[in-house]
Amino acid sequence: MYTFEQQLTSLFEQSFDKLNFDKKFARVVVSNRPELCQFQCNAAMPLAKIAKKAPIEIAKEIILNLPENNVIKSVEAVMPGFINVNLTEEFLASSTQTLVDDKRQGLAKTEKPKKAIIDYCGANIAKSMHVGHLRATIIGESIKRISKFIGDDALGDIHYGDWGTQMGMVITAVKEEQPNLPYFDESYTGEYPTQAPFTIKDLERLYPDISGRCKEDEDLAAACRQATVELQQGRVGYRALWKHIVEVSVIELKKDLADLNVDFDLWLGEASSDAFVPATVEQVKASGVSRVSEGATIVDVTAQGKHEVAPLMLLKSDGAVVYATTDLATIKERVDEFKAEEIVYVVDGRQSLHFYQVFDVAKRSGIAPETNMIHAGFGTVNGKDGKPFKTRSGGVLKLRDLIEMGKEAAYNKMNEAGRGEVFAEEEMREIAQKVGVSAIKFADLMNHRSANYIFDIDKFVQFEGKTGPYLLYTDVRIRSMLSKASEAGLQAGQIIAPSTESEINLMLTLDKFKTAVQKAYDDKAPNIICDHAFALTQAYARFYNDCHILNEEDKAKQASWLSLSAVVAQQLELMFDLLGLQVPTKM
Ligand code: ARG
Repeated sequence: MYTFEQQLTSLFEQSFDKLNFDKKFARVVVSNRPELCQFQCNAAMPLAKIAKKAPIEIAKEIILNLPENNVIKSVEAVMPGFINVNLTEEFLASSTQTLVDDKRQGLAKTEKPKKAIIDYCGANIAKSMHVGHLRATIIGESIKRISKFIGDDALGDIHYGDWGTQMGMVITAVKEEQPNLPYFDESYTGEYPTQAPFTIKDLERLYPDISGRCKEDEDLAAACRQATVELQQGRVGYRALWKHIVEVSVIELKKDLADLNVDFDLWLGEASSDAFVPATVEQVKASGVSRVSEGATIVDVTAQGKHEVAPLMLLKSDGAVVYATTDLATIKERVDEFKAEEIVYVVDGRQSLHFYQVFDVAKRSGIAPETNMIHAGFGTVNGKDGKPFKTRSGGVLKLRDLIEMGKEAAYNKMNEAGRGEVFAEEEMREIAQKVGVSAIKFADLMNHRSANYIFDIDKFVQFEGKTGPYLLYTDVRIRSMLSKASEAGLQAGQIIAPSTESEINLMLTLDKFKTAVQKAYDDKAPNIICDHAFALTQAYARFYNDCHILNEEDKAKQASWLSLSAVVAQQLELMFDLLGLQVPTKM
């Protein structure tokens, strides 16, 4: 389905054809003065320059040559040469009717689906997720959902960090506590136990402890680095122990992610690219872009405009694989194995240098000459003091604690609003979980990803204003009004010509869904969908205020308004799904 602008543009193009005007100017856009008209075409100004005529004359000619149609209600040339357009009520009604029960709300799937991999979350094994991973996870999940909806063959890949020094640290810490385990005995040739020798609680204790000690103890730090190198080079016992560490951590990770309504198609880590490291290193070397410097293998990177960029580290002098190596090998894996045409990295904006280097080397070495690689970077989450968000004690806030904060704040808000008298305790907790998480997610998504924002949970859970709870509440209220209507025997029916301004405005707003989602996809910017969702709730609030649906005497109108309300709910729910928000049935 075409947008209103596109349908008007095609009418204008017919006029341009007759007049022999260049059709590239025929574009009709949403009016920036809604009080004057709904749409406008500003072609007369550039055309006048070419034809050396007054723009207003050109505008009049364009209008005279428009074909017969039932789309345009009024079209007017105004000084100096703007063309103002309004749509007929019948056209608005019939267009909106097509949205009833339409799961895609008028947006067709792309004709050129791409194989895309969305790399997001990037949590690190053995370390708890922090607020930075929160953004990656929330934004990435939405970008993936939008890509799938548009029709791409998109796969979300968690790409967790399971190959860095923290793995060597945990191995060393386990060795300190349980030195007699077979994993540490190099002469051991038997089977390793299937059961991990630790629980997630142990891991959560071991990693922070040893990483703290490493900062003061250089020998310990060296031992941990050595363990990492041996792990990466395939020491059998370490690999077996490493598998336990990953498995135990991933179970916990999955719980946190399920709470956030996030899931992945690929649960791969940095280590899974290990099989591709030799071929990657080989290819980089063979392409001639690398050189050896102080024993390490590095690649010089193309300057960024006038700015020199530091070389990329491919292999350290001790042969250890680093972050850039695993990312390059992962690109090789994604291109060769998954045939990825596009890879989107939803990763902290502060890693932009890393991605610049990696993309440059991937292209120049021939690992990914054709693949479209995008770093969809994001800003930081700050506290009210404007500094990166921390716990009260100054530590990094854990994702789990953050989710708890959201739930708690939503619960309190609901209690304040007297919901405690309506819902049983268990129900309250269930609703608060969805509302609290949605509040956090919406507050994050509504900012353009590159912007920093301030984490203010009390603001996020407000039931008024541009917040997740307000949007969810609008939907829940529409659904409850619709079920009340159906209990009273009222039927939704054909959408008829709108009779009020607020109804017209609501229909115009519904049409903007298509443009919003397309743009959110193009720009990897879910905030555009947040804006549209909020605009829709506002347009609905005005309509609901003007049109008293349940008391309306005119049955045709009432039936039409019920359908219109259902479309609004459906479009909102579709957007919630694209944003990854869960809606409670009651609130
Ligand atoms: N694990 C990394 C971190 O915590 C993020 C990984 C991002 N993805 C990637 N392909 N580099 O910083």
